[in-house]
Amino acid sequence: MKSDLAMYGGRPVVQPEHRRLEWPVVTQADREAVLSVLDTGKFTVGAKDEKEIHGLEREWAEFSGTREAVALNSGTVALHLALAALDIQPGDEVIVPALSYVATAMAPLYQLAIPVFVDIDPLTFNIDVNQIEAKITERTRAIIPVHLGGLPADMDEIRALARKYNLLVIEDTVQAQGGKYRGETCGSIGDIGCFSLNVEKSIPTCGEGGLVTTNDPEVAAKIRSLRVLGEDLSGPNRLYISDCMGSNLKLSSVLAAFTRSQLARFWEYQHKRDANVPVFLDKLAELPGIVVPKLPTDRTHSWHMLRFRFDPRAAGLDGVEAGPFRQALRRALLSEGVPLTFYQIVPLPGQPVFQERRAYGKGYPWTLPESRPQIYDLADYPVTSQVIEDSLVLRRMHLNPDAGPALAEYAEAFHKVWANLDTIAHLARTMPYAPPWDAMKTLRSGQQLVEAGVLA
Ligand SMILES: Cc1ncc(COP(=O)(O)O)c(C=O)c1O
Repeated sequence: MKSDLAMYGGRPVVQPEHRRLEWPVVTQADREAVLSVLDTGKFTVGAKDEKEIHGLEREWAEFSGTREAVALNSGTVALHLALAALDIQPGDEVIVPALSYVATAMAPLYQLAIPVFVDIDPLTFNIDVNQIEAKITERTRAIIPVHLGGLPADMDEIRALARKYNLLVIEDTVQAQGGKYRGETCGSIGDIGCFSLNVEKSIPTCGEGGLVTTNDPEVAAKIRSLRVLGEDLSGPNRLYISDCMGSNLKLSSVLAAFTRSQLARFWEYQHKRDANVPVFLDKLAELPGIVVPKLPTDRTHSWHMLRFRFDPRAAGLDGVEAGPFRQALRRALLSEGVPLTFYQIVPLPGQPVFQERRAYGKGYPWTLPESRPQIYDLADYPVTSQVIEDSLVLRRMHLNPDAGPALAEYAEAFHKVWANLDTIAHLARTMPYAPPWDAMKTLRSGQQLVEAGVLA
């Protein structure tokens, strides 16, 4: 077919240096921060006069507007210990959105609690607050709203439900560092906020890390103890007495120092993103059939991830289905050099871990006598399925504060592809296609999915 699209031999729009941008941005200040720890000889939270972890906790609490912050070794651990410190019991139910990273839904399992999934809102991609109440039972103890992609969830509605049913609210703030909801900072709105410092996040470390934030000093003390096998390290001497079961979940001082250095530049970077990203989104919004992320006026966006939905009918392509349209667009845009990707290829309840109930022993926690029966049927999450099937995301690349020129080229590439929509429609009608969750039943590796034509 005759076309100037790069996938048919035309010249790609995006320059090679803009296809994969640097993140995290590592500066001389970061290097010096890390190296200076090596000279102190103090590498863990238990070391006498350790400064970096304690400093990070102090600065993070200030950043989040909470009394306390506790440093941990991942965001997953932050979610787990939040549930543990709030005394979530075996068989308790914890409400989570059907679209997130799997850690949100796996965290309850560590406590032998049961994740209960709620479908998402089609525009914000956050938990649909209108569907939460129907999922609350006498076993429900907590809700974990996720500020997905960097957009704060509808926290007032969630807090109102929590008050009505006496539930705890644990914010998964991993993707919304620095985000604001009606003047409140993400991570300070619920009972506990959970953060990740992994290398993809807006305030990363040079490896893995996490934090919890809370206004409750008792909860903070409990989490400090859970991260060191149930010991209390607050006294002048270590006693080696464990008050409860815990594990070794500490952050290292070197990693804390790197994050403190990144934290100091966060607002400078965020202001640049606030300038770059809306310009890019406005350019894309000119094209029919693309739904770009919207920013409600009562909250800020941390721009962690941008999800675009594609609607073939609105693009004027009758007889083309959304899934194949998305697949054809991805092939064309990738060839032009736009680093579009997927974020989840199945609603979380469709993940094998939940479908096949692979957690502890013989199907625990689902088989515990305390647990209510739980069915994870994908038909209950139609919006999540639809969004997964008709959208693509840009992530990490636009976290780079200097992504402006790259974003301008991505927008140009979208416009070029839109000028060739008849070619895209032909490809969408003729290329093999199956929804990803069908193939997941038999194909497990990304490579197998690509070979089967499920992923472009
Ligand atoms: C929404 C969400 N929750 C939890 C996590 C888990 O964080 P970590 O990778 O630090 O364990 C992630 C990780 O990317 C995430 O995106």
